[in-house]
Amino acid sequence: MKHYKSHFYALICLFFATNALFVSCNQNTGISGTSLPARIENGMIVFDEPHRAAGQQSMLQFAADPIPVVRVGFVGLGMRGPDAVERFCHIDGTSVVALCDKYEDRAVACQKILSGAGRPEAAVYSGNEGYKELCERDDIDLVYICTNWQMHVPVALYALEHGKHVAIEVPSATTIEDCWKLVDASERNRKHCMILENCCYDFFEMTALNMAQHGVFGEILHVEGAYIHNLEPFWKHYADNWRLEYNQQHDGDQYSTHGYGPDCQVLDIHRGDKLNYLVSMSTKSVNGKKRAKEIMNTEEFAQGDHICTLVKTEKGKTISIQHNTFSYRPYNRLYQITGSDGFANKYPSEGFTFKPDNLGDQADGQVPDIENLNIHGFAPADVVAKMKEIYRHPFEKEIGMTAKEIGGHGGMDYIMDWRLVYCLHNGLPLDIDVYDTAEWSCMGELTETSIRNNSMPVKVPDFTRGDWDKLDGLKFHFVNEQ
Ligand SMILES: NC(=O)c1ccc[n+]([C@@H]2O[C@H](COP(=O)([O-])OP(=O)(O)OC[C@H]3O[C@@H](n4cnc5c(N)ncnc54)[C@H](O)[C@@H]3O)[C@@H](O)[C@H]2O)c1
Repeated sequence: MKHYKSHFYALICLFFATNALFVSCNQNTGISGTSLPARIENGMIVFDEPHRAAGQQSMLQFAADPIPVVRVGFVGLGMRGPDAVERFCHIDGTSVVALCDKYEDRAVACQKILSGAGRPEAAVYSGNEGYKELCERDDIDLVYICTNWQMHVPVALYALEHGKHVAIEVPSATTIEDCWKLVDASERNRKHCMILENCCYDFFEMTALNMAQHGVFGEILHVEGAYIHNLEPFWKHYADNWRLEYNQQHDGDQYSTHGYGPDCQVLDIHRGDKLNYLVSMSTKSVNGKKRAKEIMNTEEFAQGDHICTLVKTEKGKTISIQHNTFSYRPYNRLYQITGSDGFANKYPSEGFTFKPDNLGDQADGQVPDIENLNIHGFAPADVVAKMKEIYRHPFEKEIGMTAKEIGGHGGMDYIMDWRLVYCLHNGLPLDIDVYDTAEWSCMGELTETSIRNNSMPVKVPDFTRGDWDKLDGLKFHFVNEQ
């Protein structure tokens, strides 16, 4: 009996010891503070990737039925939203049906834009949940969301569930969980969900993308992008201080998409390549802390002043992204493309290098003069002008002049809206799909997670759920395309 008793105690001890070991392993590999469970696998932080629910289908190349008049409801009419209302007044075949802001006066103020353009008054909604009534209307096709980041996803989900297409300002979501919610709601309801990444439509980016797609730079190896913009004049003007408050609570690159979106397009992300993992680092906070002290009277501030992130793709390409909204630096989105046969650079001064131009004296079979650094410089202005003319993007050819006249960051905002409406009118797939929306928006939480864990690599979720190589490159659709 004594013998059995000692075996019994030994078994109990073994049970607790194993359990303790299991729990401690779990604690060692589980990552805390993430929106979805995450763990360490093969030296990388990996977020759970939910399976596609029964009945949901991929939205790759999704095209909705043509919409002859695109009826729009705008939600969020602070600094950014009213300009979108104005731009839509310049696009034929659109009707502004409803205006909504938490603060009624902001929505009402936009009626002037409509009357100035000779358009009828729109219905006005206000309050925290006014957007729900707007989404419940059956005479709206598109909900255009320009609220603070925290409200993007609640409004978008409500709109999608009520059968509306959605276009959402940048970043469309701030967490991995919310990125998946957008993907799932778009797939479930068969409605578009597009991130309003206007920089994809800027003139330099479009020309450089067109060159890249025609092989001018050879095989693309490395791309760079940034959002370097000192927001000091703006901090006090965000409604209810939402932006500084978010940065006060979160480190990481929370506003990456102006550089990252165009970069991902050049690399054909989820159209033949995919984002595998990233590592991110932030500096200490100096000016961020000062702004927080002034505006929020707090000593605590999570976001570092300058953030650098590197991303590796499945096909062996790299992306470098930076974020800085606090330092006294000139505005800069970097935007660089390095290919095997050429190079493009947008900031601080635009330039291109093409393989034959860069050969210099070597082309004549002579030993290069190492003092002559010009041979390593940008292509001469006349060559660049010629190349820009040859590779002028079809969007610019079609609407570039009008866009420059109407404006909106030099015209890119108008081209973005015009393309969105063009594709909806004609029942074409959008240029930017829900997977772009999720891939570009997920940078906030992924970079924050890397920074919080000593810059550990973090896997980028595959929001296409395995379909990243089904398409052969990024394609823009037109009526009567061959
Ligand atoms: N693509 C670009 O170039 C660009 C430029 C500026 C801003 N943005 C983006 O546009 C968005 C808005 O930025 P902003 O500078 O106009 O900020 P803002 O604070 O001026 O405007 C946000 C508006 O949303 C409203 N709002 C808040 N909660 C709401 C709710 N529940 N229902 C309806 N309205 C609500 C606020 O009252 C406010 O008027 C952000 O996502 C920002 O990142 C993009």
